[in-house]
Amino acid sequence: MAKSSANAPDKKTKNNDQSGSGSTPSVQPVLNQQFDAPKPLQKYGTVSQRLPIGLDEKTRQQSVTNLNQMLADTMTLRDMYKKHHWQVVGPTFYQLHLLYDKHYEEQSGLVDTIAERIQILGGVAVAMAHDVAELTSIPRTPRDREEAPIQVSRLLEAHQIILKNSHEYAKQADDAGDDGTNDVVVSDVMRTNELQVWFVSEHVVDTPLARAE
Ligand SMILES: [Fe+2]
Repeated sequence: MAKSSANAPDKKTKNNDQSGSGSTPSVQPVLNQQFDAPKPLQKYGTVSQRLPIGLDEKTRQQSVTNLNQMLADTMTLRDMYKKHHWQVVGPTFYQLHLLYDKHYEEQSGLVDTIAERIQILGGVAVAMAHDVAELTSIPRTPRDREEAPIQVSRLLEAHQIILKNSHEYAKQADDAGDDGTNDVVVSDVMRTNELQVWFVSEHVVDTPLARAE
């Protein structure tokens, strides 16, 4: 991004007053300030010690790094659920359409819980899609519409990646004394993902529909 731009506001003119008198307050919003932005308040990847929550910097840094990976993966899984909610077809359309959206909502809740835990720890939560795409460890899902069993397989793969990481992150948080992060990882992320794996997995068990074999 260019440091200066023709669109950037003139910092010398405090309120963009065009009257010349300086006595009339302006209602003009100060626009385009992003083009001449000062340094960010906090760089991504750093951890501040602002909040007195009884955890040292090393512990916070480790938890923030792990939680940002978990956040990127959870946002990816969340969006995969919405994609599949829209694109699913076949005899199980209705139940999968509804189930996918339920899981989307639950994953959205997890996204907020993880992101806010990162902020509480003094970190900066990853947020934008392009950054999430770079960070996530979940394989890229194609734009194409896919058959329901393929959708389910992709979802289960993503759940498994998140669950494997959550066991590791929970142990690291526990060893470091970060009980709050351990609780988020186990009580929220792990439990929710395990339950969703159950509900999704049962759709790819090959059982007869109308007549027992
Ligand atoms: Fe919908």
